[in-house]
Amino acid sequence: MPAVSYDVQQRDILKIAVLGAAGGIGQSLSLLLKSNASFLLPRDSSRHISLALYDVNKDAIVGTAADLSHIDTPITTTPHYPNDGNGGIARCLQDADMVIIPAGVPRKPGMSRDDLIGVNAKIIKSLGNDIAEYCDLSKVHVLVISNPVNSLVPLMVSTLANSPHSANTNIEARVYGITHLDLVRASTFVQQLNSFKSNNAPDIPVIGGHSGDTIIPVFSVLNHRASNSGYANLLDNGVRQKLVHRVQYGGDEIVQAKNGNGSATLSMAYAGFKIAAQFIDLLVGNIRTIENICMYVPLTNRYNTEIAPGSDELRSKYINGTLYFSIPLSIGINGIERVHYEIMEHLDSYERETLLPICLETLKGNIDKGLSLV
Ligand code: NAI
Repeated sequence: MPAVSYDVQQRDILKIAVLGAAGGIGQSLSLLLKSNASFLLPRDSSRHISLALYDVNKDAIVGTAADLSHIDTPITTTPHYPNDGNGGIARCLQDADMVIIPAGVPRKPGMSRDDLIGVNAKIIKSLGNDIAEYCDLSKVHVLVISNPVNSLVPLMVSTLANSPHSANTNIEARVYGITHLDLVRASTFVQQLNSFKSNNAPDIPVIGGHSGDTIIPVFSVLNHRASNSGYANLLDNGVRQKLVHRVQYGGDEIVQAKNGNGSATLSMAYAGFKIAAQFIDLLVGNIRTIENICMYVPLTNRYNTEIAPGSDELRSKYINGTLYFSIPLSIGINGIERVHYEIMEHLDSYERETLLPICLETLKGNIDKGLSLV
């Protein structure tokens, strides 16, 4: 059966490409985008949102796009797959403002995220080459969900930056690893411990990387906010260590519960949509910058604006030698504008002296692994 295409010929389109859109995360994330994204458009906006859904699984992607297309929001959904007779991935990526990538294999019980690298690195490298070829690297924002994020983001950044199309594009400032599920888990687990007594979900920054002991949930922020947040007394030694461990290895709970049928998909789609929604707000002009969003990014270049005073010192004092790190960022239309290194000053001694050194050591190996595959 030929691919069904519902492309609209409209000039002002905000185009979101989802690569791996027929998978567990891809389908749920596409559902959230299709059902909610148009509500983020300004009331008087003439823009139209288009969802370009790509997957190597032809039947699944054609079915997913057709199914979503019956939802009554003004967003077009188009299926794309290799040799679809309609341009395949080239057509999917053409003019995309944002590319979200949940393509790749998920974990099975007993596997770590690093065990996925053999298969997923090939996928990410190939998709990176396609993005370099078919996207406008001077504007596209690339959001990587596939694991292991710690290694695949360096691989994606290098693939894009080494492409002949990257000259003067500053693409490194617009490639982000999505670690937001760790923040969602940190917030959830604290509320569970508190029996959901407060109606305010606490924001817990999570820095470092996105696997095991590279994940550093900064629960010490609760100390500063405890007096008025209702989350006091959660940072006693034993309680805090259990909380940290649960955030670091929370993904395993889902892998075990699914018993061989994959890893987190629904909660990841929720986390991915929360990030995507902020990018939509940015791209349609609702906000000038996304503020304080934790994502895993390269720290090597100076991005687009002046470096904040003291940043070099903070970076070399706390995270020297790390080329990639998840840390609060300010992001504008051209990508990362500011890395909020000042969070490092606010870590307490447990975070700084116990969690950070372990994180940095593991992260270095993960990054080297990703770069070795370029
Ligand atoms: P899934 O197996 O359900 O879906 C993956 C999809 O990718 C499949 O539809 C497959 O056909 C497609 N695919 C494979 N190769 C492709 C290619 N070359 N181009 C396009 N599509 C391709 O897996 P699931 O559960 O959706 O997980 C996807 C990835 O996300 C995994 O690597 C998983 O480890 C990762 N993940 C990341 C999280 C994070 O916090 N960043 C959280 C949970 C999972």
